[in-house]
Order: sequence, then structure tokens, then C-alpha cells
Amino acid sequence: MKQNIIAIDGPAGVGKSTVARRLARRLGLIYIDTGAMYRTVALAADRAKIGEFTDETMAPLMSKIRISFTDDSRVLLHGEDVAQYIRSARITDLSSKVSAVPVVREGLVALQRKLGAKGGIVMEGRDIGTVVFPDAGCKIFLTASPEERAKRRRDQLISMGKEADYDEILRDMKIRDERDRTRKTGPLIQAEDAHLIVTDGYTIDDTIAEIVKIYKASK
Ligand code: DC
Repeated sequence: MKQNIIAIDGPAGVGKSTVARRLARRLGLIYIDTGAMYRTVALAADRAKIGEFTDETMAPLMSKIRISFTDDSRVLLHGEDVAQYIRSARITDLSSKVSAVPVVREGLVALQRKLGAKGGIVMEGRDIGTVVFPDAGCKIFLTASPEERAKRRRDQLISMGKEADYDEILRDMKIRDERDRTRKTGPLIQAEDAHLIVTDGYTIDDTIAEIVKIYKASK
């Protein structure tokens, strides 16, 4: 058991990133957003004009790609800060597609294990408690209804001054959920020993408080 690894998994739009970032700050741990890594691979593939995502088309890119993080958890592609490019609707859709390709998952899982080897991390994604760190001392599965998640994503986009259509967000979220849950490699599933937290009606602070309680009890 790795006592100082907190693995947080769950579907899109549940607030994992916000929760994981603040939780890490509060506990003095390093925050690693693995979704940002898949998004960065999608950006690199898009820039390389790769139209179809298979092991054959993605293997050359995966053998060369260099993804790293700044101290404040911003993702770098070959040293370039790409945080501003990876949240667009296009890259969001492509990231869900590239994340189903085995060679992409193998490469990123290996990198994630390396980043977390020393422990002291909060790592957030879809397969952290099941595949990346099955021996994490504290596993959380965060979820909420699709409607609640779509509402949160819409509010988040509006607060960033962006346009947001609830029905479109809900539809895209359901498509992405289905893809994440049914892919053959590293699908989104709750680890048997993960603590389930259903966050409908919870604030971010409520969720963090609950995780802190679980984490302290696990030590
Ligand atoms: O968490 P996110 O929305 O930023 O993730 C972007 C995409 O990457 C999402 O479609 C699922 C995928 N992903 C994954 O397959 N495995 C992870 N550990 C993290 C994200």
C-alpha cells in the first residue's frame, strides 16, 4: 500500500480537477491532472494532422512526445505551456478518442507511474485507482448525475466568459461518458476498494472535507 497517494477517479465534469488541486494544496501534496496529459497528446496529434487514431498512427508520436508539468501543475508539451489550448471543444473531443488507443494509454500510464513513484501526490483521472496505482492508500470515486455535471460545466464556462449551451454540453458529456466507460483499455470503472462519493448537492468544500476524512482514516 502506498499511503501517500490519493487516487481520484470519476466521469467528466464532476469537479475532480478543482477538488484534487485544492485538496493537494491543503495536504501539501503534488497535484497531477492526467486528463491534461491525454489532452496534450490530442493537441500534439492534431498539430501533426493525424486524422485517425490507432496504434499505428499514434506510436511514432508517442515515442517522441515529451510531456511535463510546471511546479504549479501546468502541463508542458516539449517545454511549451499548452494549458490554454487543451480545453477547447475540439481538443476535448479528440482527447476522448486518443485515450482509447492502447499505445497512448501505455505511454501515459508509464509516465504517470514515474511522476508518482516517490508518492506525495493527488492524481486524478479515470483509471488511477484501477490501473496506474492499484496500491494507492486512498482511492476515491467521485460522481454525480449527468444533469448535475452538465450544469456545473455550463456554470464554469459562463464564469470564464465563454458561451455555453446546457443541452449541447449534456449530450457531449453522455457521449464522452459512454466512450470512457466502454473502451477496452483502462475504462472508467470504480475500483472495488474505492470510496464512492456522489456529489449531487455537495459544494467543493463538502467534497474536500469528506476526502480529508477518508484520507486521515486510511493512514
Ligand atoms: O478529465 P478530462 O476531461 O480532462 O480528460 C480528458 C479525456 O482524457 C477524457 O475523455 C478521458 C481521458 N482520460 C483517460 O482516459 N484517462 C485518464 N486517466 C484521464 C483522462
